Amino acid sequence: MFMSNYFYKHSTPFSIAIKDNQSILCLRVCFHIFVLVEYISRSNICRYGFPNLNKLFSTLVSSFLSLFVASSLVAREFSHHEPGVARLNNGSFGSPPQCVLSNQAMWAQQWLQHPDAFCWEPLEKGFAAARQQLADLIHSPNVNEIVLLENATTGAGVVALDVMWSFLERRYEKGDSILMFNSAYGAIKKVFKGYCFRAGARLFEYKMPFPVSSNQEILQSFEDALRREKKENPSKVIRLAVIDHIVSMPSIILPIRELVQLCRAYGVEQIFVDAAHAIGNVDVNVQEIDADYYVSNLHKWLFAPPVVAFFHCKPQHLSQLHHPLVSNNYGLGLVGESYWVGTRDYSAFLAVPAAIKFVNDTAGDIKSYRDYNHRKVVEMAQMLVSAWGTHLGAPPELFGSMAMVGLPASLNIHSPEDALRMRTRLRTEFQVEVPLYYPAEGVDEIFSDHRHSTTKTSSVAYARISHQIYNKLEEYHMLRDAVQAIAAEST
Ligand SMILES: Cc1ncc(COP(=O)(O)O)c(C=O)c1O
Repeated sequence: MFMSNYFYKHSTPFSIAIKDNQSILCLRVCFHIFVLVEYISRSNICRYGFPNLNKLFSTLVSSFLSLFVASSLVAREFSHHEPGVARLNNGSFGSPPQCVLSNQAMWAQQWLQHPDAFCWEPLEKGFAAARQQLADLIHSPNVNEIVLLENATTGAGVVALDVMWSFLERRYEKGDSILMFNSAYGAIKKVFKGYCFRAGARLFEYKMPFPVSSNQEILQSFEDALRREKKENPSKVIRLAVIDHIVSMPSIILPIRELVQLCRAYGVEQIFVDAAHAIGNVDVNVQEIDADYYVSNLHKWLFAPPVVAFFHCKPQHLSQLHHPLVSNNYGLGLVGESYWVGTRDYSAFLAVPAAIKFVNDTAGDIKSYRDYNHRKVVEMAQMLVSAWGTHLGAPPELFGSMAMVGLPASLNIHSPEDALRMRTRLRTEFQVEVPLYYPAEGVDEIFSDHRHSTTKTSSVAYARISHQIYNKLEEYHMLRDAVQAIAAEST
């Protein structure tokens, strides 16, 4: 017990799922080292005389183990990654390991062997297993509240479709509002525009401060925006708020519980949380968050294959919701409708338990590997800002497994188009994949509502770096050196 606790606490989170001979040898070496660590930690040497020896020794050993065991596991599980490319963008598409891909292939093969038989039992049981495991993971008391969908965009479509019908059937009045963050993901904004604006909704945006110094700054400015809206448009009902759990760009974790509470306090009727990045990146407790709708991709940070997401919904809304793609199961409720939306490849959905197993086998639990990625991304971000003489876009506690790192002003990025050009250059000339951010509306405009509370900084463009277990220090060095080389061109 002691040893396994120790192991999870101090080593990288992927030290156990090991099957081949080389790895078994690693495991044996680990075992002997741990016996030694345990002996030292319990001996009087550590208690009297050398109080820091235990910690120092443990750290050395765990670093050694991290390198030794992790490299073999990672090399095998992510062997399909293109060599030589610094993949610092797990946030966009995630990356399933080989064992999950094999499991997905097994499901696809079963389907091909006997599709008719597969559609009944294995498919249904596979869906049920995935939904139950997800319910446990996100603290949902009722598996009926969990729906498997293709992706976060589809989840937004489910909610937007319902809002659209409320306008068309006159439960909502023309001009009733939908509140969104200016930083909402582009596709999600368009979903609500596409379904709801034409049906009569008024869409209005809250400008989130960035760079940002604390949660309190966000909460204060959000409350100011709600108060202003109530004052300026007293007759307009806010039917829905769309809030990210983790913003895509600029990537920060939002204080979602408090934001939901503020919405309720100011009479917002329903809240949809776009948590595309959340599961595997932050703790997800849907009961505590208490939103009406919550969607998270599983292929971004939970190692599921593309594409699959879960959608959680308060039970009272379930019967009125529909999948945006109408098919055979129309009218059976959202769970039933989403279970069959026509002939398609369901294997990614069925591989969700394999992804959860990968996390548990390698890290012990989801928290261990979340903590590990957070620690590493902050370490890498700090290394970069100190090399470039810039700053982080937010304090480390607002980052999960992604961080916003200020870029040197000498890169001359003055527009989103410049940022995209620079990103392409980093990919094509330096083999570094990393999204770059420059606020679309220009810094002054973005800050106009928050000038009093926004931290003034020198750089306006940021790199959003991710950390996932396959990443290595050298990859962040590649980014560091590439940026320095480009910056040197203009001096
Ligand atoms: C915050 C956020 N919401 C929604 C999406 C859309 O995800 P998908 O394309 O899987 O639907 C993304 C994609 O990166 C995102 O970052």
